[in-house]
Amino acid sequence: MRLQLLLLTVLAVFLAGCGGPQNMLGPAGPAARDISTLSWIVLGIFSAVAVIMWVLLGWTALRRRGSLSEHEPVDIGGGQNWILTGGFVIPFVILATVFVLGLRTMMAFPVNDGKHDRPDIRVTGHQWWWEVQYLDGAVDRHFTTANEIHIPAGRPVDIELESADVIHSFWVPKLHGKEDLVPGQPNLIRIEADRPGIYSGQCAEFCGAQHAHMMLVVVAQPETEYQAWMAGQVGSSAQPVNGEQALGQQIFLAKPCALCHTIRGTEAHATVGPDLTHLASRQGIAANMLPNNEANLAAWVTHAQALKPASRMPNVTQLSGLQLQSLVAYLQSLN
Ligand code: CUA
Repeated sequence: MRLQLLLLTVLAVFLAGCGGPQNMLGPAGPAARDISTLSWIVLGIFSAVAVIMWVLLGWTALRRRGSLSEHEPVDIGGGQNWILTGGFVIPFVILATVFVLGLRTMMAFPVNDGKHDRPDIRVTGHQWWWEVQYLDGAVDRHFTTANEIHIPAGRPVDIELESADVIHSFWVPKLHGKEDLVPGQPNLIRIEADRPGIYSGQCAEFCGAQHAHMMLVVVAQPETEYQAWMAGQVGSSAQPVNGEQALGQQIFLAKPCALCHTIRGTEAHATVGPDLTHLASRQGIAANMLPNNEANLAAWVTHAQALKPASRMPNVTQLSGLQLQSLVAYLQSLN
């Protein structure tokens, strides 16, 4: 009884790791499904091998054995077929099969070979956030956002991956495998979500102190909703509608904020940090490390270095309480 309980607990702990928002074995798109199918095949084969090995080990341990004098001499060559078959032929066949299956899966994915049209989106990795440029249509329809990628559900989207500094890796487990963002080497990844939903992702290549806090969100929307979202993002930021927001905007432009960020429709055009034009429409801040709300915005402005040490966002401490409140009110109006 106690053993069963223990086994159940162990099983529960293992299964708790599955089914989460970043479960690669729970695919939500064609590419992830191919990878997941391959993973199940490999898992099946290796589980079978493990079971057979345990049975053989058990058999060796339990079989009747005699004394040393009853054994055949060592040099008689017994058991060499076991070594040849079990140690060479079977592993060769299994590993070669898995290798070929893996290559076939990989080769089915499009790469950046110059034969594809312009990508729909360009994602540039920064320490430690994601710049997202939409390249759809004419140049005046292009816009930049950050850390949250909206895509239409049910159709493929080509994303060009680049890096502004070190190597990062784009990984949204429910939609695709990992693909690196390499400085000077644009890569292409094609993602598609079967259904509308929110798919979380993570930088999957160690890129410095805050690598673990470099998260991204893919929001798949029905076509009409997606078009509406695009139309909203193309435009400039909302202008202040009350005194508090107006003061906030004034502070944004006068204080260090404008040296690093862009808010389209104002004089802030810097590109060191994320574009904040439609900040309030995004779910998270600090590369989705924190939910986008009043308390976190105030904490991020004043204590970024405590929340995300070594990031390029400084602690902005020269604000009075009223100024901070106005600044946050303004940021929250940018939808
Ligand atoms: Cu970017 Cu790890």
